[in-house]
Amino acid sequence: MRPRVYVTRRIPEAGVRLLRECCEVSQWESDEAVPRAVLMDALRECDGVLAMLTERFDAATLDALPRLKVIANMAVGFDNVDVAAATARGVVVTNTPGVLTETTADFAWTLMMAVARNIVPGYRYVQEGRWTTWGPLLLRGQDVYGATLGLVGLGRIGSGMARRARGFEMRVLYHDAVRREDLEASLGIEFVPLETLLRESDFVSLHVPLTPETHHLIDRERLRMMKPTAILINTARGPVVDSAALDEALREGWIGGAGLDVTDPEPIPLDSPLLRRENCLIVPHIASASFRTRDAMAELAARNLIRVLVSGEPPETPVNPEVWERRRR
Ligand code: DGY
Repeated sequence: MRPRVYVTRRIPEAGVRLLRECCEVSQWESDEAVPRAVLMDALRECDGVLAMLTERFDAATLDALPRLKVIANMAVGFDNVDVAAATARGVVVTNTPGVLTETTADFAWTLMMAVARNIVPGYRYVQEGRWTTWGPLLLRGQDVYGATLGLVGLGRIGSGMARRARGFEMRVLYHDAVRREDLEASLGIEFVPLETLLRESDFVSLHVPLTPETHHLIDRERLRMMKPTAILINTARGPVVDSAALDEALREGWIGGAGLDVTDPEPIPLDSPLLRRENCLIVPHIASASFRTRDAMAELAARNLIRVLVSGEPPETPVNPEVWERRRR
């Protein structure tokens, strides 16, 4: 009997092709998120799911799906899954780290440059027919070269930012729950308390997972610590920043600007005041969206499912490896 798996969205064909070779595959054939009722109906008959970060798997959901053995998230983040609940129920959870690191760091860098140098306001200025002459005061921004970059979180993507910063001869500060002395010399970075990082950085880029500890990590008080010219970049998760406080900070000039790939909630409501701030650039959670990387994410998620359900090998990138270990004993 081939295992049954459900794919919760249209994804790059490379991933679906791998699954079809050895599983019975059904799929929500849309670019919109699958309605909850449809998802639950489909998953009752499935052994595994290739899921997006938009599908929530909490304890009650898992209790309603006793046949489910593996959740393969097509994302490095897995805050949509209650991992403790999955572990307690023997459900393997996997994610897609590694394959999206450089693409996401490229994008965080792009956001930083774009906000610093007024790319979107400049484009709008031209489109609106306001470009009449060269102006010595026109659309001045912040220099990235030689500035101080503060990395909140020094995982793979944070380290990728540090590597990029070397080419721009930046001073790089970082803060993380775990100090990475092993990387400090090779990356030329300095570990500092979060408050120091916020006070001294020209750019603050967030690279932490969303956990109860990082929820609203960047709040009113911390935004107030930043330089009035500083630019905040968030490619991590929206709720790491208190959106109301960020709006106040941008409106009142506590900070200079923000570049957000992620918002809280997603999508950002059209009446959010953040959408009206000239100094806030918001894009729709696309930091890992390159052709190559999305193929790689789909393939890695598919391989994880296949390993757990078909070949009996440990998943390549497990979030709760103890479930697999337990099963083998
Ligand atoms: C992730 O992988 O967690 C991103 O947010 C989507 O690429």
